Amino acid sequence: MEHNLPVNVREYQELAKKALPKMHYDNINGGAEDEYTLRENIAAYGRIMLRPRVLVDVSKIDMSTSLLGYNMPSPIIVAPTGPHKLANPEGEVATARAAAACNTIMVLSFGSSCKIEEVAASCDAIRFFQLYMYKRRDVSATLVRRAESLGFKAIVLTVDMPVLGRREADIRNKMVCPPSPNLEGLMPFDDDLGTGGGSKLERFASETLDPSLSWKDVEWLKSITSYLPILLKGIVTAEDARKAVEAGVAGVVVSNHGGRQLDYAPPTISVLEEVVKAVAGAVPVLVDGGVRRGTDVFKALALGAKAVMVRPDHCRANSCSGRWKILICLTALQVGRPVFYGLAARGEAGARHVIEMLNKELELAMALCGCRSIAEITRRHVLTEGDRI
Ligand code: FNR
Repeated sequence: MEHNLPVNVREYQELAKKALPKMHYDNINGGAEDEYTLRENIAAYGRIMLRPRVLVDVSKIDMSTSLLGYNMPSPIIVAPTGPHKLANPEGEVATARAAAACNTIMVLSFGSSCKIEEVAASCDAIRFFQLYMYKRRDVSATLVRRAESLGFKAIVLTVDMPVLGRREADIRNKMVCPPSPNLEGLMPFDDDLGTGGGSKLERFASETLDPSLSWKDVEWLKSITSYLPILLKGIVTAEDARKAVEAGVAGVVVSNHGGRQLDYAPPTISVLEEVVKAVAGAVPVLVDGGVRRGTDVFKALALGAKAVMVRPDHCRANSCSGRWKILICLTALQVGRPVFYGLAARGEAGARHVIEMLNKELELAMALCGCRSIAEITRRHVLTEGDRI
């Protein structure tokens, strides 16, 4: 039995910092340019207060929810975050096992350091596959087909990275990132990929990512995916949320890539309500960025739970029987760096412990706010700065 285990995500972060080479820690932890968005993702949660209701019998708390028809014991899922072997030699296999132990969903990055086939064979976690659009569409198409045949349940297309954000720590450290084995045989890559200055990551991205990515490609992706639902990750405005629904996607992920792409993009928690309102219950909304506490999860659920009244004919993802229905729009929160910290500090056990701790903290927040189920968390349980004016 291990003693002195970390008691929160921040302590895992400190352990990760000690455990990792500086280049890797800076890459995982860092953001774009001034890192304003990176800091604000976290700070914005700190400006939201809770409005607890008392004298509610909270002897039983039910955190269960579902996403695209998959039942989960809590709304916390694992975000796609690059190559996990930067943190631990077992890489994504360890993370997938941690997610499976918590019965939650793992979104596997296209750039995973364990081959997608290896991750699929390692355990029975429910997995979504995250995709970037490559200049070579045949590479994207091949990855989608592999994900389909391996039993992945959804494709998450990341749309906030037509070009790589300027991550200055990576440039300074001349960050080297081994190419993903997923691309073996599909793309030419070697240690000297590309020319010019900057980190190797920058050169890899500029040679492979397609800056012409547009709504037409969402159509194309739908056309080559025989049955998997497609989610768009990286939506932060009502305008794009509405377009996503019109494009017929199965869900949107409110994300600014953890502050790693456009600096001064808004902190995700500050635009969640706007997106939820625009989507109006048509498809599930997910959010990521800055979640470090169970209370953060609670706050997001409160802002995303804005009950919207929808006509059944506007309602695709939820089963609407009556004329009007109140919907819970925010269905899941993705955590990125916290899981990475756990993995770096203690491997699979650490990643699992981080998810379990966040679940425990959410349970506690719900009990102390007088909410016995996710459905009982409402907008009236939080106070934002705007509310005070
Ligand atoms: C990421 N993120 C990311 N997103 C994506 O769509 N594909 C990817 O390959 C990666 N890779 C990646 C690597 C690392 C090291 C980090 C930290 C992040 C972004 C990720 O999915 C998510 O949006 C953020 O991590 C959420 O913010 P937090 O939870 O890290 O604050």
